[in-house]
Amino acid sequence: MGHHTNRTANDGAALVAAARAARRRAHAPFSGFKVGAALECVDGTVVTGCNIENATYGLTICAERVAVFKAVSEGHRRFRRIAVATDTRAPASPCGPCRQILWEFAGDIEVILANLRRETGRYRLKDLLPLPFDARLLER
Ligand code: THU
Repeated sequence: MGHHTNRTANDGAALVAAARAARRRAHAPFSGFKVGAALECVDGTVVTGCNIENATYGLTICAERVAVFKAVSEGHRRFRRIAVATDTRAPASPCGPCRQILWEFAGDIEVILANLRRETGRYRLKDLLPLPFDARLLER
């Protein structure tokens, strides 16, 4: 282990690698745009997702939501970070609906964006989704 500038195994590189691996399983014959996501639970479990398109187009589900719904369905409720991988030069950040779903289940997590070569950005979800609607508002 390094003692100063070395990044540790927990710097997000493994999570990004998991997102890139999930991306390879994307079902995206219509757009050709493959996305992978890797959601890290507070217990260290990593749950991945890929986008899954449909011939009706509208039933397509994004990689991020697949990851969140898989995780919740398997009993995970507390999350730390999500990595999203795309084959783009510019950072590709989660779509609006995915931001809302992430906020619902994960709150203000760290969002790590990456392409196939490098990390392209890190954000807090609250900065990607300012003034969010959530269950607190239902209490009036
Ligand atoms: N997509 C994702 O999976 N995540 C995003 O954050 C953006 C878009 C998918 C949906 C569709 O299958 C393809 O990328 C093109 O929009």
